[in-house]
Amino acid sequence: MSMRTLLVTGAAGFIGSNFVRMLARRREPVRIIALDKLTYAGNLANLADLLGDQVTFVRGDICNAELLDHVASEYRVSEVVHFAAESHVDRSILGSGPFVTTNVIGTQVLLDLAKNRKLDKFLYVSTDEVYGTLPEDQPDVKFTEETPLQPNSPYSASKAGGDCLVRSYFHTFHLPVLTTRCSNNYGPYHFPEKLIPLFVTNLMEDKQVPLYGDGKNVRDWLYVEDHCDAIWTVLNKGKFGEAYNVGGNNEMTNRQITEIILREMGKPWDKYVRYVQDRPGHDRRYAIDASKIKRECGWEPKFRFPEAIKTTIQWYRDNESWWRQIKSGEYLKYYDTQYGGR
Ligand code: NAD
Ligand code: DAU
Repeated sequence: MSMRTLLVTGAAGFIGSNFVRMLARRREPVRIIALDKLTYAGNLANLADLLGDQVTFVRGDICNAELLDHVASEYRVSEVVHFAAESHVDRSILGSGPFVTTNVIGTQVLLDLAKNRKLDKFLYVSTDEVYGTLPEDQPDVKFTEETPLQPNSPYSASKAGGDCLVRSYFHTFHLPVLTTRCSNNYGPYHFPEKLIPLFVTNLMEDKQVPLYGDGKNVRDWLYVEDHCDAIWTVLNKGKFGEAYNVGGNNEMTNRQITEIILREMGKPWDKYVRYVQDRPGHDRRYAIDASKIKRECGWEPKFRFPEAIKTTIQWYRDNESWWRQIKSGEYLKYYDTQYGGR
């Protein structure tokens, strides 16, 4: 049997690069073609130390069918693991065009590649946000794979568009697809526009942290390596045509997260927390029922939040040049637009 060759899209982003790193560290017997457009969120530095015999980097856009076909043929790609996306909800509110282009059309172009070249597997990294929002006063209610898709932001609507296209290629063309829908990740290489890395790096710069609304929105936080392990598990043990929820069973309000980060970094609440205007359409609560992936694939999270958040904060302390380079140029323009320059 020939070697499996994975086309990993969005491989220079947060989760994609952690996924490639995990497979390389574990010496999994696969070849990896790490494809990325290198948008503002993509950073070759996330992958630089991994490039070599096992991992090849290709710069390219998932909307470019010709390029994808060339890459698939040249490297004999056998499977696709599709992370590439515009991923930040706040940016999708400022402008949704790139979200529809990459998350919907890009996914369709990749699906056609898999169909035309009869690839062995296609895994779509979806999100729990496709399910919409949950009430905070019914803690027993969680998203299951049967929960209807009711996306509320342009970001989640575009991810749901990709999710539905993946489903349709299974039903119509019997494409061997798999879908994962994961909750909020945290960990190394997380772009400092998202809650945890934004707050940690702002505090390292002795700046305030902007908490949206009343700070009581709830997310289920999962360490990124657990998500990567879940994706690898589903790629190997999942049933084609099925979606799998992935979660940390670790619901927390944004206030709780903020308190933990402040305590860990020795900064007082009153001086450093600034309540700012809420995100329009802000989903109140996400919670994941991840019993299916445990039952069918044997996956469950290994990392615990109290330790993994410390590891994460330490990573930002040890890698100051990584995030300081990001927090310049285009980032500053975005920060001004989003937070009024403070
Ligand atoms: P990210 O923004 O850090 O990385 C996305 C990567 O995709 C970047 O490297 C970017 O350059 C690349 N990219 C964007 N448009 C592209 C295009 N047209 N062609 C090729 N590459 C392109 O995002 P992330 O947090 O690593 O998320 C990865 C995937 O996981 C996304 O599909 C996201 O929806 C999903 N997801 C994320 C989370 C989370 O908590 N971060 C949770 C569940 C699911
Ligand atoms: O649930 C999975 C999703 O998690 C992924 O699909 C997305 O790609 C990823 O970005 C993430 O979306 P969220 O909107 O939940 O993550 P974010 O880090 O942007 O925000 C987390 C919570 O913190 C949310 O309730 C909004 C709040 N927040 C965020 C920022 C950036 C603040 O209070 N202040 C902020 O400045």
